Amino acid sequence: MTLHICQTGYETFLAKELSAPPERSGPGWVLGPEGKGELCFAHLSLRAPQEVPGKSVNALAGAVADFFTTSTKDERFEGPWPFCLESAGLPGLARRAKTVEEEVSAKIKSKMARVAKLAVPGRPALGLRRGLFAYLPDFDHVLVTREALAGGQRRMADDPQAPSRSYLKVEEAYGLLGREPAAGETVADLGAAPGGWSYSAARRGALVTAVDNGPLKGAGLHPGVAHRAEDAFKFRPESPMDWLFCDMLSDPERVIALADRWLAEGWCRRLIVNLKFGRRDPLRLLEQAGVLRRRCAFLKARHLFHDREELTLAAERI
Ligand SMILES: C[S@@+](CC[C@H](N)C(=O)[O-])C[C@H]1O[C@@H](n2cnc3c(N)ncnc32)[C@H](O)[C@@H]1O
Repeated sequence: MTLHICQTGYETFLAKELSAPPERSGPGWVLGPEGKGELCFAHLSLRAPQEVPGKSVNALAGAVADFFTTSTKDERFEGPWPFCLESAGLPGLARRAKTVEEEVSAKIKSKMARVAKLAVPGRPALGLRRGLFAYLPDFDHVLVTREALAGGQRRMADDPQAPSRSYLKVEEAYGLLGREPAAGETVADLGAAPGGWSYSAARRGALVTAVDNGPLKGAGLHPGVAHRAEDAFKFRPESPMDWLFCDMLSDPERVIALADRWLAEGWCRRLIVNLKFGRRDPLRLLEQAGVLRRRCAFLKARHLFHDREELTLAAERI
């Protein structure tokens, strides 16, 4: 069994992505089999976790620390390792998880000081990782394992200058691609206003064409940003761009077709596209977005930490 962690409220979609019905689930988690390929809604998948009961913070922390010290008996730690402890979306549980985490760190430090120093707290980078992963599904249990698959979602630091909170999504999406716009690269930002995504690229020195009928605000009006008040579906770049950004409040099927056109015409090398699924079935949209694969060397679809009823595609053309 695998414990898959998602955003609270999105468990049903995550359960549908699994290869068979889940065993059980709660707010922000689903315990079940592996996924059918890469999962969009799973943020972190804890492989074969052990479940241990514990009535107090001390008992829960003791169980996690004991599991770690026993399982690492013959292991040599040469470099950093991730230590991630999270909890279900129940009121007050995050505070308990924080205290358990501090207690686990102290216990490991007292027994394995050198190894404890190498711990990197928080979610690991995208991919299969070995470290210490624990999850509190409620106040009296902890699931713990040494191996987890990270989907790449993470909370991003706020920037008070960014013109919108949408900015956090594009910053998070760079992690999926393993790259971000570089100085001198060109970006077409479709549906750019008020300007968070444009600002994110421009502050890295990229040259942004921000297409939106609406106005940009504040930092969106960065010297590296040129505003075009046009319909983004009709916009054509004068020469090929390095990046396509698209965060339009628009029919997601139309947006997939738009991204496909940009790739087919060679108008962009990389893209970050947000699909607002609203009340539609996001799994159906994911299937539809699969059409882009034939033109991409790399394509990832994720329900990001900062996404709501939307999902984000990050891709690189063949
Ligand atoms: C969610 S907002 C984008 C937020 C932006 N990414 C940011 O970081 O500030 C969606 C934008 O899409 C724009 N939009 C929707 N349809 C459009 C179209 N056909 N052409 C241009 N802009 C469009 C809206 O005007 C709106 O400003």
